[in-house]
Amino acid sequence: MFDPDDISVNPTKNTPVCSNMSRRMMLKLSAVAAGGAVSTGSAQSAKTNSAFHNFKEIGLNQSADIKLADGFEYNNVIGFGDPLKSGMKPYNSNSLTAEEQKNRFGGNCDFTHFFQDPKNPSKGILCVNNESPEFSTNPDKKEREKAAYYSVGCSVVSLQKDSKGDWEVDLQSGLNRRITPDTPAVITGPAASSERLKSAFSKDGIKSAGTLGNCAGGFTPWGTYLTAEENIQSYFTGDVKKHPEKENMKRFGMNGKNHFFHKYDKRFDLNSDSQSPLHFGWIVEIDPQSPDEPIKKHSLLGRAKHECAMMVIDKNSHAVVYTSDDQAFEYIYKFVSKNKYKEGDREHNKKLLEEGILYTAKFLEDGSMKWLPLTFGSGPLTEKNGFNSQADVLLDTRKAADLLGATPMDRPEDIAIHPETGKVYFFMTGNRARSAEKVNSANKVARGSGHIIEMSANHHESTAFWSFFVICGQDLMDQKNSLFHKETSLSGRFVYPDNGCFDTSGEMWICSDGYGFPGFSDGLWHCSINGKKGLSRRMATAPVRSEFTGPCFTEDGKGLFLAVQHPGSVKGGSFPDFNGSKARSSVVYIKRQV
Ligand code: FEO
Ligand code: CA
Ligand code: CA
Repeated sequence: MFDPDDISVNPTKNTPVCSNMSRRMMLKLSAVAAGGAVSTGSAQSAKTNSAFHNFKEIGLNQSADIKLADGFEYNNVIGFGDPLKSGMKPYNSNSLTAEEQKNRFGGNCDFTHFFQDPKNPSKGILCVNNESPEFSTNPDKKEREKAAYYSVGCSVVSLQKDSKGDWEVDLQSGLNRRITPDTPAVITGPAASSERLKSAFSKDGIKSAGTLGNCAGGFTPWGTYLTAEENIQSYFTGDVKKHPEKENMKRFGMNGKNHFFHKYDKRFDLNSDSQSPLHFGWIVEIDPQSPDEPIKKHSLLGRAKHECAMMVIDKNSHAVVYTSDDQAFEYIYKFVSKNKYKEGDREHNKKLLEEGILYTAKFLEDGSMKWLPLTFGSGPLTEKNGFNSQADVLLDTRKAADLLGATPMDRPEDIAIHPETGKVYFFMTGNRARSAEKVNSANKVARGSGHIIEMSANHHESTAFWSFFVICGQDLMDQKNSLFHKETSLSGRFVYPDNGCFDTSGEMWICSDGYGFPGFSDGLWHCSINGKKGLSRRMATAPVRSEFTGPCFTEDGKGLFLAVQHPGSVKGGSFPDFNGSKARSSVVYIKRQV
C-alpha cells in the first residue's frame, strides 16, 4: 500500500558517513553510559509479573478474526460508532449520522492508554487516538462524509470490569467524550500569539480548535494524555504554490489536494484561512478528568509529523518527552522542562510542558549521540536563516533541525522507555527511499524494513550512547543485514516495527505496520529484553488488512488493550461484529482464558 510517509521532503544532505563500529563496541559504550537514576513516572514502573509470557508462538496464517496464541482470548471493548452516552441507539453502519458521531467512539484507532483508578482498580479511563476518518455505509454521501469528519481526534471512555474480568463501557460516566476537529483548544508556549498563528479563526494566535492525524502518543505522571498529530497535511485543500507559508508547506509535504474537510469548515480551505495548518502538527495534552477544559497544543515540543510523546521524569525531576517525526529522513526530538515535577501538585505539573528546551538528535559513528538545542539566536537559528523568534524556530521545527545537522532517520515511529532501566527504544519503521549511498551509522540498511535503537538513560544530559537492539534487514528473509536473537523463527521475525511498549515485568512488545507487502501479516510480538535479548516471538496476528496499534498492559499484568486499525471486510463476516456489516476498527482486551 502506498504510504506518503515513505516519500522524503527533506532537502538537506544531513547524512553522516556509515560507521564500521562493531555492535559489541557499541553495546559496551551503552553499558558504560547507563546508570542515570530514573523515575519513569509510569504507572507500570513497579515490576509485576506478566500473564503474557510462556506462550507457544503462532504461525503466519491470517484470517478475518484476530489470531491469538493458545490459552488467550479477547473481548471487543468498543468499536467505531459505538455510543459514549446512555440512551443512544446501538451502532448501525447504514444509518450513522454526523450529529450522532460527535458522541460515538471515533474511527481508525491508534494509541491507547488506560488510566486505571488507583482507588478502585475495577474502573478506569481508556483514552484512544482516532487517527484518520472512518466511513459508515450511510447511503447519504454528505451525512457519511460529515460523520467521518467527526470520527477523527480522540475518544475518552470510562470502563468498568464485568463479572468475567473483561472491561465494558460505563455509559453513565460524565467523563466519556469525543475530541473532534471542533473541540476548543489553546496554543501554549513561545508560538502562542505569534503573528503566524493568527488566522481567520484565531484572532489572537492562542485560540485553536481540534486535533488531527492522532497517531501514537503518551501520558504523564499527573494523569493527562498526550496525543501526537502526525499526518495533518492531508486535511487541507487549496493552492500551496501561492501560499504565504509556501516554504513551510513544502517542507511539511503539504500539497493541498484530495481531502474533504474544507467542505465542512473553512479552516481546512487554504485559500480562505492560510494560517490554519500551523495550528496542527503539535503534541496535544488532554486532561481526561476535565471535560470542559480546552485541550492544549504545546508549541515547545515542536511542529512535525509527530508519531508519539513518551515522558520520563529525569533524576533532577525535570519532565523529559521524547518524540519522533514519522517521515522518511526525518528526525528524533526530546523536550526538557525548565521547571521540576512536583509529586502530587497537579496544577503545577500541568504547566511543565509550557517552558523548557526542545532538542534534536544527532547520532555519531562512535556510538555516542548529541542532543542539539533548537534555541533561537544560537548557531544557525538566526535572522540570516529566516528565524525572527523562538516561535519561528518551533513553527519551522524541521528546517531548524535541518540546519543543526540532525541525523535523518528511517521513519521514526514509536518510542518506548524501559520502566526499570530507563533506556529508551526508538522504533524505525523502515525507509525504502534510503539508497546505499545514503546509509548512515544509525540507519545502516539500504531499503531497510526497520530497526530498533536502544539509547542509554541519560535523560538529563545533552549526550547519550546508542546501539542497535534489533535490525529487521531488507525483508523477512534477509539474514545478512538483520539482527535478531539467533533462535528467532521466521514467524517470530517482524518487519516495519511501528508501535511498542513494555509489559509489567519489563519485557518489550511490538506491533508492525507492513500491510500491503505480499505474504506478510501484521501482528504482535514479544521481544525479550531480560532473557535472550532480541529473541522475538509472534503472539498474535491482526485481522485481514488491519494492523495492531496502541498496545497497553493493565497494571496488574493480566490484560492487554490492543487496537485494530483499518480491518478489511470479507465475505462470511467481518471483524469485529461478524454479522454481515462492514468491518470497523476497535479496541480489544486480551487476557488468559478463564
Ligand atoms: Fe500513523 Fe506513523 O503511523
Ligand atoms: Ca504509527
Ligand atoms: Ca501505522
